[in-house]
Order: sequence, then structure tokens, then C-alpha cells
Amino acid sequence: MEQNGTLEELYARCKACDKCQLGATKTNCVFGVGNPNADLMFVGEAPGEQEDLSGTPFVGRAGQLFDRFLYAVGIDRSEVYIANILKCRPPKNRDPLPEEEDACLDYLREQVRIIKPKLIVCLGRISAMRLISPDFRITRDHGKWFDKGAFSMCAVYHPSYLLRSPSKKEEMLVDMKQIKAKYDEIKNQ
Ligand code: URA
Repeated sequence: MEQNGTLEELYARCKACDKCQLGATKTNCVFGVGNPNADLMFVGEAPGEQEDLSGTPFVGRAGQLFDRFLYAVGIDRSEVYIANILKCRPPKNRDPLPEEEDACLDYLREQVRIIKPKLIVCLGRISAMRLISPDFRITRDHGKWFDKGAFSMCAVYHPSYLLRSPSKKEEMLVDMKQIKAKYDEIKNQ
């Protein structure tokens, strides 16, 4: 992948991508949304139906729940950047295949290189296992920070999981509050 360029150029390449089978079945490429200079970036798994139809990540039921957590801790969605590991929707929302993640991951790497966030928060197990460590266990490791050099990473429960397991929302709120505290620290540096 080219090592220079802007988010717009990357988006154009991503829209035309045929590196895996999902490019052919997508409605829209769900590239990412938000502040191109964000210090805080969230990375989910893959677009669902509403995201595929709109071209924007986290706008369906899970996204609306995620927005409520952002609001509850005082983070404005427009000041952060939100993306997924996969930019195209897997049919019937099945889990991404390893080869689809492999094919798509360079786009996320480029997004990180251009945006240069200081904090990257994985939304859910799949993103955490791919981006933080294959041994990541979301129930054990959520909310913990991992130093990755230029940035720090942590993971929280996926909002879709919280829709199915509402009793975990309290833990999510604790995690989101400490993410906001770390984000404030970084902004004031
Ligand atoms: N789930 C994700 O992981 N990403 C989205 O954009 C929507 C739902």
C-alpha cells in the first residue's frame, strides 16, 4: 500500500477495493467517520446492515447505544474518529474471516498513520484480538491499557454484546469514564 496521501485518497482506494469477496456484495464502503486529527480513535469489527446502507460506522442499534455512552462520559462523537477493521459488510453479519481481515487491515493501518491518534479503543473482542493480542480475553482484559509506542490501546465490550447482555453496561460505563479521564490528560499535555 502507498505510504503517503490523505484520508480522501485512501477512501477512494478503499471504495474501489476488490482485495476480498466483500467488495462485490457491499452497498457502501464504510471507511470511517469523525475528526481527521482525533487524539482518540475507536475501532469496531465490521459494518452491519445500517452501516452498509448509510456508509457510516456505528449508526444502527449498537451504534446508538455506543453514542449514549459517549454522551454519558462527555465525549462528542465529532471530536473522535470511528472506524472498523473491515470496511465492507460481511453477509448476514457473520464474523469476519481471517483472510478478509488480512486484506482490509492495511486501510486501518494507513488511517492510523494519517490521523495519528494517541489512544485507540477497540470495540469488542474481535477488534481487540486482532489489534492488541490474539490472547486478549474481553471479560478479563477490558479497560486495561497496553502501550504500543506511539499510542496506547485498550478495549471495551462491543455495544452489540451490551444489547444482548445489559448487565455488563455498568462495567462499560466504568471503562468509558476512565477512557475519558485518560483522554483529558492527553489533551492537556
Ligand atoms: N458493529 C461494528 O463492529 N461496527 C459497526 O460499524 C457497526 C456495528
